[in-house]
Amino acid sequence: MKLIVVGSGGREHALAWKLLESNQIERLFCLPGNGGTACLDRCENVAIAATDLDSICQFAQKERVDLVVIGPEVPLAAGLGDRLQALGIAAFGPTQAGAKIEASKAWAKTLMVEAGIPTARAQTFDQAAPAITYVQAHGAPIVIKADGLAAGKGVTVAQTLDGAIAAIHTSFAGTFGEAGSQVVIEEVLVGEEVSVLALTDGQTIRPLLPAQDHKPIGEGDRGPNTGGMGVYAPLPRITAPIMAKIQATILEPTLAALQKRGIDYRGVLYAGLMIDPEDNVQVVEFNCRFGDPETQVILPLLDTPLLDLLLACVNRTLDQIGAIAWKPGVGISVVMAAAGYPNAYPKGDEITGIPGALDQGVLVFHAGTLWKQGQWLTNGGRVLNVTAVAENFTLAKEKAYGGIAQIQFPGAYYRRDIGYRLFS
Ligand code: AMP
Ligand code: GLY
Repeated sequence: MKLIVVGSGGREHALAWKLLESNQIERLFCLPGNGGTACLDRCENVAIAATDLDSICQFAQKERVDLVVIGPEVPLAAGLGDRLQALGIAAFGPTQAGAKIEASKAWAKTLMVEAGIPTARAQTFDQAAPAITYVQAHGAPIVIKADGLAAGKGVTVAQTLDGAIAAIHTSFAGTFGEAGSQVVIEEVLVGEEVSVLALTDGQTIRPLLPAQDHKPIGEGDRGPNTGGMGVYAPLPRITAPIMAKIQATILEPTLAALQKRGIDYRGVLYAGLMIDPEDNVQVVEFNCRFGDPETQVILPLLDTPLLDLLLACVNRTLDQIGAIAWKPGVGISVVMAAAGYPNAYPKGDEITGIPGALDQGVLVFHAGTLWKQGQWLTNGGRVLNVTAVAENFTLAKEKAYGGIAQIQFPGAYYRRDIGYRLFS
């Protein structure tokens, strides 16, 4: 078989690496891939951007690929899944209509409210004045969200009324482009955030292991939010009864609500959840794709072949695959970022020590790197994901940070407390 993975992050490196465990795959193309995918056997980077839908479709047709796995939300929201399907090319990832669950927070909220899915109470506005009146009536803390895709920057958890009003002005001033022309204002949820990524073929939905991301840049969860600085799985906190509740009250009703709207959703439904001390679970957001960096810790633990699972989603045969099997043990993945991230950061610095890290038994997924003349260079804010799998979290953490200690690039930054809730 020939496959394409669309995207260039750590998630896509992990997807390509895991898919290539199946020896039915003769060739895998990453569009555009990164310095990690450049060095995988049977894998080739092709310089086509994940947002260049025309070129992706042309290339998929020319190579007669058997499956296109779409990593990021932007091409999904732009309709890459629909375009490939129209050409008769199998695609893993929802259509544009399904991707709305991530691409419009107002749309997702309406779907949840109509289907009775537990989520923060909210109201949507398309003008600043009534939005400001609303926050004045409700007070702070309060959450202000740009409706559309804003590369993770569209959400403000405002602690003060002034902060909330400023966030409303920022959104309507066009800072996030069209994405900010509507805002969703909602109550603050408290508890622990959990990511549950589920695979679905539009009829059956099966969760993967729950994972916990660490979004703020600073240790102790301080400072601005990032795309995610580290993650671990599975979560001891999410017991089998809680997982069953998530399946029954969130995943299945969401799939049913999508079906009711005539949406044939085949791909990942990623539920970002808040779980309070009484084990009440509410939806913070949905994403229409694999999480990054969640994928980099979940896939190393997966025992069922990923290719079989993705094909079952595309072919609507997920019910014929038995329970998803997992390897024993647990995983922690720590992000190494460029100095300055999530603000401006340098690119093009040499990365050394990866072979030494691999010798320690960790996996190194490349996020923002480039392979050039036999060297890896930094090429993004999140540079590497160092993942360790071990018998328990104490050992996994030691192993992950042991791997990181081998790797150098100028100004490398990482949080030293990934998984801290496990040990407190
Ligand atoms: P989102 O882009 O919707 O995932 O929001 C980004 C982050 O903002 C989430 O991961 C949460 O940490 C936080 N957040 C979003 N909505 C809420 C909420 N209603 N209550 C508390 N925190 C929230
Ligand atoms: N880890 C957060 C995300 O993928 O959106």
